[in-house]
Amino acid sequence: AVTDIKELLLSRIRDVEDYPEQGVVFKDITPLLADPAAFTALTDALAEIAQRTDATRIVGLEARGFILGAPVAVRAGLGFVPVRKAGKLPGATLRQAYDLEYGSAEIEVHAEDLTANDRVLVVDDVLATGGTAEAALQLVRRAGARVAGVAVLMELGFLGGRARLAPALDGAPLKAL
Ligand code: PRP
Repeated sequence: AVTDIKELLLSRIRDVEDYPEQGVVFKDITPLLADPAAFTALTDALAEIAQRTDATRIVGLEARGFILGAPVAVRAGLGFVPVRKAGKLPGATLRQAYDLEYGSAEIEVHAEDLTANDRVLVVDDVLATGGTAEAALQLVRRAGARVAGVAVLMELGFLGGRARLAPALDGAPLKAL
């Protein structure tokens, strides 16, 4: 049954060559989102991970981590906390910079959305270099919460994100469906 889910999910991810730039193969999840059986299977699988890790909050990473993380939170009976690109959240925030291939970026979370009692599962569509997820875990820890793990639909293993994330995970699981 596990391989059936994996095959279903893989069959609904479209490879787009040379997007957004020459030489990059973009993983487009919109066919998966448009297929209710596949989207439900993905949501259920991620919610199961959330329950196994005893998470109390789902943190979703803008933008595709919002689409995947929100139904997971509802299904698992947990609160959803958005981590946004800098400048989008109106309240008091924590901000974290991280390196991109060229330049850098910043993400933010509302400080009051995470407390010392929370265990956080970070949800996103793709783990590539791991820079985004690493910065999100740093935000979780700076907010005083604990890290329950990271769960993604896809891990692009050749980019080494798992190794980059290891220190920030500090033993917590990284699950890639
Ligand atoms: C993509 C993807 C992850 C991140 C992975 O988001 O959805 O969040 O990149 O890359 P990394 O592991 O190398 O950090 P993107 O920054 O394109 O944002 P978007 O979903 O808002 O387009």
